[in-house]
Amino acid sequence: MLRGFRPLATALLAGSALLLTMGAAAADAKRESFGTLADGRQVEAAVLGNKAGIRVKIMTLGAAIQSLLVPDRSGHAGDIVLGFDSAQEYVQNPSYFGATVGRFANRIAKGHFSLDGKTFTLATNDRGNHLHGGLKGFDKVLWSIDSVKSASPATAVFSYTSPDGEEGYPGTLHVTATYSLDDDATLRVEFKATTDKSTIVNISNHSYFNLSAETGASVLNHLLLVNASKYTPVDAGLIPTGELRAVQGTAFDFRKPTAIGARVRDGHDQQIRYGRGYDHNFALDGAAGKMRLAARIADPSSGRIMEIFTAAPGLQFYSGNFLDATISGKGGRVYREGDALVLEPQLFPDAPNQPGFPSARLDPGKTYVNTMEYRFSTDKPGRPAGVQ
Ligand code: BGC
Repeated sequence: MLRGFRPLATALLAGSALLLTMGAAAADAKRESFGTLADGRQVEAAVLGNKAGIRVKIMTLGAAIQSLLVPDRSGHAGDIVLGFDSAQEYVQNPSYFGATVGRFANRIAKGHFSLDGKTFTLATNDRGNHLHGGLKGFDKVLWSIDSVKSASPATAVFSYTSPDGEEGYPGTLHVTATYSLDDDATLRVEFKATTDKSTIVNISNHSYFNLSAETGASVLNHLLLVNASKYTPVDAGLIPTGELRAVQGTAFDFRKPTAIGARVRDGHDQQIRYGRGYDHNFALDGAAGKMRLAARIADPSSGRIMEIFTAAPGLQFYSGNFLDATISGKGGRVYREGDALVLEPQLFPDAPNQPGFPSARLDPGKTYVNTMEYRFSTDKPGRPAGVQ
């Protein structure tokens, strides 16, 4: 299905996905090797493709999105996520590129939380706080591939069982990560978890996006819309203060599409100084528990547009402030600030210590679910691949 061309800004405001209809092969899925780690462990990958010419590769290390090829407005597919060419480089430079982050994505103050009167101490790995699951979070373990199916949507299911006490968390946690790509232009990622003891869970995907692909264009020119009228301000350690602050009149108001670079250096705002740019959780508008638009990014240079839908209450927007040219990624390219942004649908940071935030608790017999959809389009859809 194809809806007619509308200029970029109109499409951004209208909130509807313009679907890509590139004349590529039908949905397909395969399983392949992604090399061997220095310690001898084999890494595998699932590759899903669709008619729209989108291709995603997910590897068993971190159940991470290693590449995501999406056509631009001329039909040329380009890789819109940062990462490495080999599995071993992910081990050497842990930066959560494309990874599944958990058990608790984002920060937990000082690595402490209490459940039913008992205090738990987690591994700390970020200035005395717990970040993205600790020293060996879900990004650093090898997941299993449970199934890979070609039928539309092409689907791959990954799983990992985290032992009781791993990184300090209570309960044996069984987790699945399901990736599916339909023939319109939607990549759906769904995390599910069950436990045998009461625990806390918050799992997300940590892809670093640059919709211009490998052209070198900065994400500071991307137009971002975030469907949130409030965000959670942080202290100097990036731990939320507990306040829900209105975005109105601040550098955090993305309710209308705004270039990321327009306010990312707004040093008058202490929150921008604390984050070295954006590194904040937005409290999404609309009822949590129902899929709704969380964010939309549009790259004027390539014409690519990506919408993120989620049922999660929050969205972490990280403007890649810690990319400091110390890492060379795919093709030997040095990654610097402005090269990518991360948008993570999830619960609010430090939720286990903030009674006013939506709860991260998971009890035996219940299933944790976090679903996110990435819907792709361009500002000039409907052109066959390769036609300018
Ligand atoms: C966090 C950043 C952190 C980054 C690491 C983001 O989710 O918000 O503070 O540096 O992950 O990749």
